[in-house]
Amino acid sequence: MPQLSFPEGFVWGAATASYQIEGAVKEDGRGSSIWDTFSAISGKTKNGETGARACDHYHLYKDDVALMAGLGLAAYRFSIAWPRVLPNGAGAINEKGLDFYDRLIEALLDAGIEPWICLYHWDLPQALEDKGGWTNRDCAKWFADYAGIVAARFGDRVTQWATFNEPNVFTLFGYGIGYHAPGRADRNDWLKAVHHVNLAHGTALEALRAAMPTAQLGVILNLQPVRPEQAGRDDKARETLDTIWNRAFVDPMVTGEYPALVADWLGGVPGLVQKGDLDIIREPMDWLGLNHYSPFYAKADGPPWGATLGAPPAGRPLTGMGWEIDPIAFRDQIGEIAERYWKGPIYVTENGFGQIENAPPGRAKVDDEDRIAYIASYLGALLEARAKGADVRGYFVWSLMDNFEWAEGFEKRFGLVRVDFETLKRTPKASYDWFKRLVMGNALP
Ligand code: FCB
Repeated sequence: MPQLSFPEGFVWGAATASYQIEGAVKEDGRGSSIWDTFSAISGKTKNGETGARACDHYHLYKDDVALMAGLGLAAYRFSIAWPRVLPNGAGAINEKGLDFYDRLIEALLDAGIEPWICLYHWDLPQALEDKGGWTNRDCAKWFADYAGIVAARFGDRVTQWATFNEPNVFTLFGYGIGYHAPGRADRNDWLKAVHHVNLAHGTALEALRAAMPTAQLGVILNLQPVRPEQAGRDDKARETLDTIWNRAFVDPMVTGEYPALVADWLGGVPGLVQKGDLDIIREPMDWLGLNHYSPFYAKADGPPWGATLGAPPAGRPLTGMGWEIDPIAFRDQIGEIAERYWKGPIYVTENGFGQIENAPPGRAKVDDEDRIAYIASYLGALLEARAKGADVRGYFVWSLMDNFEWAEGFEKRFGLVRVDFETLKRTPKASYDWFKRLVMGNALP
C-alpha cells in the first residue's frame, strides 16, 4: 500500500507571478516592463493579449487572499514587480509600489498565510532592457540593489525569499530564441544573459543575507528530464539540451562550476566570465525550489544550438499545453536533485495542469477532474521521492487562479479558481474543493 499522507508541517501553498495576475500596469507610478512592451507587439502573444488587466489582483487581492484562506494554505508564493518598486529599474524608489506589497503581506499574515517572495518572475523594467537588460553586466548590481530595497522594507515580516523564477526559461526564451520578452534571438545574447543572471543571483543573495541574517533564501529552478526523440539519432542533442536547459544554472549555483559545454561557449564571449565570478555565484542558499510539469524531448538540429525541441512518442498522455503527463519523470527529477545536487530542503515551487477550459453553460463551476488526476498522480510521485530520501518539504500548486499565460495569452488555464476575464469574477473549480480536502487532511483524498 503506497503512503498517502504527508509529514507534519509539510507546506501547502499556491504560486502566482506579478505580471500574470496583477494588471494595473499604469497605476500608482509603476514603470513599464519588458512584458508590457513585448505583449503590445502584434503577433507576439495569442490574440494579442497582454497582462494590462489580467486578474486585476492589484485591486482584488483581498478576495484572492480569502480564496487562499478557504483552501487552508500555509503559504503563498508571489513575485514582486521590479518596475513597481523602481520604475526605472534603478534610482528613485516608488513608495506606492512598495505599499501595495505591504498591503498584500499584511492581508496574508492576518489570514495566517506565510508570504514567500520571489524577486524576479520575468518582468524586467523596460528602462533596464533599454540599457541592454540581462546582456549588461551592470544588471547584476541593479538587481542586488533592488533586492536590498525590498528586503529592507519586508524583511521584518517575510522569512522566505527566492532570487529568480526559472532562469533557464526567461534567458533562453527571451534572449536566445525570442519566444518571450524581450524577444531577442541571439546565442551570444543568451550566453551573456545566462552568466549575468547567475551573477545577479549570487550578488542578490549577499544583499539579502546582509539585510536579513536569519531569512531562508533560495532559488526556483525549472528542471525536466530530457529524452531523445529517437534514441541513437538524437542522443547528442539530448545531452546538449539537457546541459543548456537543466545545468547552466544549478551547476554554477550549487557546485560553482559551469558544465563543460556551457563553459566552452561562455569562454567564446570575450570578457564575459571574470575572475571570482563563480565564487560569487556559489553563494550559500537554504533551500532549492523545483518547478516541474513534464519531461521533454530533444531532436538533432543545426547551428546555433545543435538541438531543438522534439515530440513525445505518439500516444503518450498530454495536458492541454501539449506537455506530457509523466509523474515518474517528476519522481526521478526530484531524486536526481537530491542525489546529485542538494541534500537540504527542497520545495516544489510550481506544478499544475493547464488546458483550454470552458465553463459549463449556465454554470460557472468547472469540473476539472483531469487537473485533479494530474495533481494527485504527481503528489503520489512526490511521496515516492520522499520515501527514497529526498527532503521535499512543501508543494505550491500552479496556480491559485487562471491567469495570463505569457505568449499563450488567456486561452490556457491553470487555476484552482476560474477567472472570468470579462467580469473578473472568481469561481472555485472542483479542483479547489479537492485541494482543500488534501490540505485539511494532509493526505491524498
Ligand atoms: C512556468 C512559469 C509560470 C507559468 C507556468 C505554467 O514555466 O514559471 O509563470 O507560466 O510555467
